[in-house]
Amino acid sequence: MDRIKKGDSPLFRISQKVMVGGVNSPVRAFKAVGGHPLVMDRGRGSKLYDTGGRSYTDYCLSWGALILGHRHPAVLAAVQKAVNKGTSFGTTSKPEIEIARFIVKHVPSIDMVRFVNSGTEATMSAIRLARGFTKRSKIIKFDGCYHGHSDDLLAMAGSGVAFLPVSSSKGIPEAHVQDTISLPFNDPQTLVHAIERHHNEIACVIVEPVAGNMGVINPTMDFLKTLRALTKKYGIVLIFDEVMSGFRSNLGCVQADLGIIPDMTCLGKIIGGGFPVGAYGGRKDIMKHLAPLGGVYQAGTFSGTPVVMEAGLAALKNLTPSMYKKLNALCDDFVFRTNLDLKKAKAAAHLVNYRSMISIRFSENPVSNYLEARKASSDELYAKLFYHLLRRGIYLPPADLESFFVSSAHSIKEIDALCKALKDFFIPAA
Ligand SMILES: Cc1ncc(COP(=O)(O)O)c(C=O)c1O
Repeated sequence: MDRIKKGDSPLFRISQKVMVGGVNSPVRAFKAVGGHPLVMDRGRGSKLYDTGGRSYTDYCLSWGALILGHRHPAVLAAVQKAVNKGTSFGTTSKPEIEIARFIVKHVPSIDMVRFVNSGTEATMSAIRLARGFTKRSKIIKFDGCYHGHSDDLLAMAGSGVAFLPVSSSKGIPEAHVQDTISLPFNDPQTLVHAIERHHNEIACVIVEPVAGNMGVINPTMDFLKTLRALTKKYGIVLIFDEVMSGFRSNLGCVQADLGIIPDMTCLGKIIGGGFPVGAYGGRKDIMKHLAPLGGVYQAGTFSGTPVVMEAGLAALKNLTPSMYKKLNALCDDFVFRTNLDLKKAKAAAHLVNYRSMISIRFSENPVSNYLEARKASSDELYAKLFYHLLRRGIYLPPADLESFFVSSAHSIKEIDALCKALKDFFIPAA
């Protein structure tokens, strides 16, 4: 095994003794690519530095959270100022109110918001609220979409779960997934059939409006419009899980981009400015069912804690129209150029993106659902590609079927280097 593949093995060996698999989240464990996970020391801009002093252009970006790159000066300054005032009050604080106002102002579906500590908490709580609001039990999700690791949602999930030999996790009683219906993404007919059959029992439909946890899959408008029309018709709460896609391409999220407005939205990642966060919000008449106004209970010691809120607010305030314009164009152009070359060379691969959320498919054919995503995926090829890039100082998420991300801190030079490294891999003679 070469030096790069060995990674920081002495430190990681210690890590494995004291933490399960040496990690605190399974997909970090490099199971899909082999070798030892890198132990990181610091980040700056587009770069990550491991404990051995090697630097990498980071396209994982804390799984999409760092749209401004590592250590953005405005975020750092806001955090330092907030810490000096105290770390946590267990009360409402000014930054919470400010960030809530920002989100309510920009995200079309959100009249009121509740902050939590992770995306998992956001989706889990949104579903509880939808159930409380509709007094129904069943939920619909889509194969390959990942909404965090709460019991009800680990059925046919993507991301790290996509690599488990079973479709959901052990330790989840049958009863917990009995009310979960998982349907193919981008298939309006199956959706119509399922909703027409079960509509009296369905509390909500939860969907990643642009899927990112089975690689990037853009929705067809027919699929999303059918989803919106049917849920409206039957009083089913439509929840957009924008934990990954939220604030990625514009301030109104995917819903504003595509003009399909759900009843509720879950957020996370970007809105924490690199700190742990989640949020869910929606129509006022639904949100009013949440305690303390209503009977659906959900609480949290650190929910809306001021340091995180200040970090998130600083990040959101730096998401300017010109930043988005530049980043989106950079990524669209990168994907277009790379695909043109791959196509010319008849390489069995292509890139797909939703703005700065990108993934690689090991096939020339477009992918529109989980089944096709799995067919266009290869652990073996991805592992080779991953180490090919790592040797060139480029860090991608250590598993196929994940999205990778570009931040405003990435330069055209770095993007060109990625483009060249991909071409070297897929078109060796080029
Ligand atoms: C779309 C989506 N929803 C929910 C989650 C869960 O968020 P967290 O990891 O913060 O619990 C993720 C995490 O990647 C996600 O991508």
